[in-house]
Amino acid sequence: MKKMEVARTIEELRLHTDAWRDLGYVIGLVPTMGALHAGHMALVEEAKKHADVTAVSIFVNPLQFGRNEDFDRYPRREEEDLAKLREVGVDRVWLPTRDVMYPPGFATTIRVGGPARAGLEDAHRPGHFDGVATVVAKLFNQTGARVAAFGEKDYQQLLVIRRMTRDLDMPVNIVGVPTVREDDGLALSSRNAYLTAEQRRTAPRLYAELTRAAESIRAGTSVEAAAFNARQALEDAGFTVDYCEVRNAETLKSVKDQRHESLRILAAARLGDVRLIDNIPV
Ligand code: PAF
Repeated sequence: MKKMEVARTIEELRLHTDAWRDLGYVIGLVPTMGALHAGHMALVEEAKKHADVTAVSIFVNPLQFGRNEDFDRYPRREEEDLAKLREVGVDRVWLPTRDVMYPPGFATTIRVGGPARAGLEDAHRPGHFDGVATVVAKLFNQTGARVAAFGEKDYQQLLVIRRMTRDLDMPVNIVGVPTVREDDGLALSSRNAYLTAEQRRTAPRLYAELTRAAESIRAGTSVEAAAFNARQALEDAGFTVDYCEVRNAETLKSVKDQRHESLRILAAARLGDVRLIDNIPV
């Protein structure tokens, strides 16, 4: 097994990434917040297909959490994560501390628009995507990545990152990776660990209702009616629904002509204080 290096300072990180760039290697990056599961491993596998060397970053980014969100309780499992990454043959793990990422005096952030203002996650998590974009831009600069893999599970995030890289001319190829699911359909997420046994039994309904809505749209139901029915079914099952909407899959704008647009159905719903998100193509 090849040796996996762990960097905790910018200097340690640059030691290898500069050498890799001099050798002309394409660096692939998988940005994560740790608590790694099979979904992350699918991102690593995909990044490896497009790159000569692969780096994974683990950083729970305070900038993308709202004041009442789960920053403090977000699972942190460094040793387990490193063991998993070693097993899949990652070359470098980037583990910055908060002070390394945001040193005293830090004052520059990215403000994203377009898909970041679609009225979906952004409506419920103000400032979230500015925080994501800022850290991802820094991670791209720090690692010199030319390819980066992001999961479709965070579909709005994927489009926001694509938009940002295009708008700011970042030379990074953004690769989207399909959502990895449990056998019962629940999308893998580090936040699934918060679910009680009862909530865990209800959670797969989210995917089931999205699937049912997508099928009914394909059978001719209007996007509005299908989304309304899915929302109703989720509320009946015990979810509190933040949003359940069908949007244009490329822009996340409202659908104007459902027969001629590519569509995506996206939802966020809470079971107790656990917030789940999911989406599928129609
Ligand atoms: O998707 C995530 O885990 C995070 O939003 C990311 C992309 C690592 C940025 O902190």
